Amino acid sequence: MTSRLIPVAPFVLTVFGATGDLSRRKLLPALFHRDIDGQIPDDAVIIGVSRRPLSDEEFRNFARQALVDHVAESDLEGGALERFLGRLSYIAADADADPGWPELAHRVSGLPGHIPVYYLATAPHLFGPICERLGKFGLADHGRVVIEKPIGKDLESALKLNEQVGKIFPEDQVYRIDHYLGKETVQNLMALRFANALFEPLWNNAHIDHVQITVAEALGVEDRAGYYDTAGAMRDMVQNHMLQLLCLVAMEPPSSLEADAVRDEKLKVLRALKPIDDHNMASVTVRGQYRAGASAGGAVPGYLEELGSERSETETFVAVKAEVENWRWAGVPFYLRTGKRLASRVSEIVVGFRPVPHSVFGDAVGAIVPNRLVIRLQPDEGVKLWLMIKDPGPGGIRLTHVPLDMSFAKAFKVRNPDAYERLLLDVVRGNQTLFMRRDEVEAAWRWVDPILSAWRGAKDPPRPYTAGTWGPSAAIALIERDGRTWLEDGA
Ligand code: BG6
Repeated sequence: MTSRLIPVAPFVLTVFGATGDLSRRKLLPALFHRDIDGQIPDDAVIIGVSRRPLSDEEFRNFARQALVDHVAESDLEGGALERFLGRLSYIAADADADPGWPELAHRVSGLPGHIPVYYLATAPHLFGPICERLGKFGLADHGRVVIEKPIGKDLESALKLNEQVGKIFPEDQVYRIDHYLGKETVQNLMALRFANALFEPLWNNAHIDHVQITVAEALGVEDRAGYYDTAGAMRDMVQNHMLQLLCLVAMEPPSSLEADAVRDEKLKVLRALKPIDDHNMASVTVRGQYRAGASAGGAVPGYLEELGSERSETETFVAVKAEVENWRWAGVPFYLRTGKRLASRVSEIVVGFRPVPHSVFGDAVGAIVPNRLVIRLQPDEGVKLWLMIKDPGPGGIRLTHVPLDMSFAKAFKVRNPDAYERLLLDVVRGNQTLFMRRDEVEAAWRWVDPILSAWRGAKDPPRPYTAGTWGPSAAIALIERDGRTWLEDGA
């Protein structure tokens, strides 16, 4: 396939946890897609590492199956699959023991012109030990390390983890992935705000009434109940993905897209979040847990059944009314809501503008609905701007509310790349703009910790909601108390 994309520099990517779920579902398919688009140089090398003793051939077979399962059949044709598999090799090594490491060091140092990248697709408790061994075997010097959430379970553990990684790798070699930042529409949010003169003058409390950020999933916790029960929706989604979205909506225009210019602005937002603790937790947060119900036309079990336990206080739903205490946003609530087993899978940001100050359409039929800008992350990525127009036809002015609707799939007719495709190549390019800096992660925990602590101290457990609904009714009350309502599709 001919490509208008520029290949990245040669690299040697070592994936720790190469036989795990993230590697199978996301990393290998992402690398493969970049390869067929011609972005991976011929001499790039991918080394899989895990504890399992496997030959190169066995690892290639594992990768072949992963690609058959996760890539469109038509993309695997024409020798593309075999060419990609030819890049792969395997080393068995344990984070806590030396065998295997000298061989890894030998292979990486045998490729002096290649950029060394280490992707830690492992459990977070292994980040420290793996970094230590990377240091011990001389692999850290020019290497870049990629880690992913959970980065800690609270501020204290995040500080410790960042410390362990930071002992070996300086911050400009650490890439903390939040895959939401690699999503096409999330980057589009920056394009929308900063490549158009239209919105920025209105982007403040004089013109914006409130913002809603919804990340709703129809699936339950499936086979991840073990991990999920130690995390819950606040740690799994709010501390990272949702706060990152909030930051991109609320940040001041950075002076450039340089990594630190963007990250400095996001950090200021996180630091300006109004604290939520024992005093206000009950009035501005709602947590829920799903019970058995229906999804996609079939009966589905409740969280406790999936967990195989009679009791758990882990929340599978969170709604929060957040506030950014600065000049631009004072008085503008940011309503966040996320949950598993909700009515449908939809992620979107709705920016609700203020109503017109005065209606000149005295007896026109149809109320004037305030404008809304809806940025739809998934599915059907796109942007909608809801406007009032006159209903066509004679008979006087009747007003109606319609969207200027730009669906990316219809407008561009290209495959929407997975977030990991973008992010993995950004690591090779040395571009940290879409990665979280250490102080951002820590600031997010500083806001989240007191909420978790207030919940722990509360007498009532998470509120039950039926699977396949929009969460506990208290979440509806949370926003309706303010005279607003959750908007599905911004309508
Ligand atoms: C992950 C969470 O970070 O994001 C999962 O751990 C969640 O629980 C997932 O399902 C959602 O990602 P996406 O890209 O499917 O919206």
